[in-house]
Amino acid sequence: MANIAVVGAAGYVGLAYSVSLAAFGHRVIGVDRDPGRIWMLNDGVAPIHEPELPELLQRGLATGLLTFTTDYATAIPPAEFVFICVGTPSTETGAADTSAIVAAATAIARQSKGRTIVVNKSTMPVGSAQFVADILAEHAPSGVTFTVVSNPEFLREGSAIYDIFHPDRIVLGADDLDAAHAVGDLYNTLNAAILITQPRTAEMVKYASNAFLATKISFINEVALICDQLDADVDVVARGMGMDARITPRFLHAGLGFGGSCFPKDVRALAAMARENACDSPLLNAVLDINAGMRSHVIAKVRRRLGTLTGATIGLFGLSFKPETDDIREAPAISLIEELLAQEATVQATDPVANAHIAARFPEVRLAADAYGAAMSADAVILVTEWPAYRSLNLDRIANAMRGRLVVDGRNVLDPGKVASAGLVYEGIGRPRNEGAGTRITVLPGAEPLRAQPRPESVIDSHPLASRGD
Ligand code: UGA
Repeated sequence: MANIAVVGAAGYVGLAYSVSLAAFGHRVIGVDRDPGRIWMLNDGVAPIHEPELPELLQRGLATGLLTFTTDYATAIPPAEFVFICVGTPSTETGAADTSAIVAAATAIARQSKGRTIVVNKSTMPVGSAQFVADILAEHAPSGVTFTVVSNPEFLREGSAIYDIFHPDRIVLGADDLDAAHAVGDLYNTLNAAILITQPRTAEMVKYASNAFLATKISFINEVALICDQLDADVDVVARGMGMDARITPRFLHAGLGFGGSCFPKDVRALAAMARENACDSPLLNAVLDINAGMRSHVIAKVRRRLGTLTGATIGLFGLSFKPETDDIREAPAISLIEELLAQEATVQATDPVANAHIAARFPEVRLAADAYGAAMSADAVILVTEWPAYRSLNLDRIANAMRGRLVVDGRNVLDPGKVASAGLVYEGIGRPRNEGAGTRITVLPGAEPLRAQPRPESVIDSHPLASRGD
């Protein structure tokens, strides 16, 4: 068992790690400057919507392994490890704002009592391990020493706890190998693969991973726009591509594009790091442009069908940036609402958990309890976030509620034939226009176990393309 302090414990990453590290059997004190959230947490109430979080929070509090405070002087002195989990939002230039890191490192330095390992968990610009080490050294009392280990997180909102318990890999960046192993040992109940490298490389692994996943999404979205023109079905294209083991079908879902607090911010930050270091990053810039264009593409589809958006009533299904979270940061719904309001449309929207956040930001949006309410008298509806409830809508009820006929499926999750059977007009993203017919697709199962086996050396060696190296 280790003694751990988590700085930024009321935020997404900090809270998910606080409850999980306590579940691993460590003694965890979460510290955060938000007194309202710390009060809730000590009461066993999770301030964010995240599956399995409330259960682990309550279990951690009940076992006494988990506590929360706003006081660094309580949290830091007993800690052998301090996790920095503060936010690094975008600045105006797209670069990461490191002010919360500076504040956290300064406070940690002032309160530490002995040898402390500081774990950089937040997504931090390349070079941050050294940056944090310098701040710690500047403010440390004499006799107190620090080692910084970069240990980026790879959590998805909506499955953050699952991801902590089932990591594909744990990445550790440290100049001090003993410190890297000590941090790796905190996760030894997980039996996960561990990659140990230099801090700057570990920091880059995080940015490159997010940028690559964002690139996959923008790639398939660009293909979807071409499919829209050529009357091909992007979903089947993605499926066919994904059957190639080198490609995989994951993160090839075409639609309104990526949002959230990570992909947009991290792609921008990587592009900014490139720019600041005299490197071009045309691919990263294209990824962002294509993503923004998907929102405009959907608005254009609606405008084309309705003739004008002025005076039209548009229903939006789903407001969070993805299902199973109430997070609306950079959610596609925000761009859609802004554009619809700018064009003087009336917006009626609904989300299972994010309505309150939208109400606070857009008082002029009418919020409904469910999709049927958001469809009431609407000229068109747009499925924005693929919450399970919207995948299995009663389409006759939607048709009866609506004034118009248009259903734009911004996530390609509805069955076009069923939408047409309800008397509605279906528009997906990169799906064929033969309304009602759907796409013909037949997949004959192959001998998977046989094909999954490695090819015998002799075949590879004797193959004429063996030297191709791909
Ligand atoms: C992402 C990464 O997946 C995590 O590995 C990473 O740790 C995290 O960012 C982070 O840096 O903290 P997250 O933003 O929670 O996680 O959500 P994702 O599931 O990756 O989805 C991001 C966005 O991409 C969502 O808006 C989603 O709708 C969109 N998306 C995803 C697509 O449009 N198509 C896809 O095929 C997949």
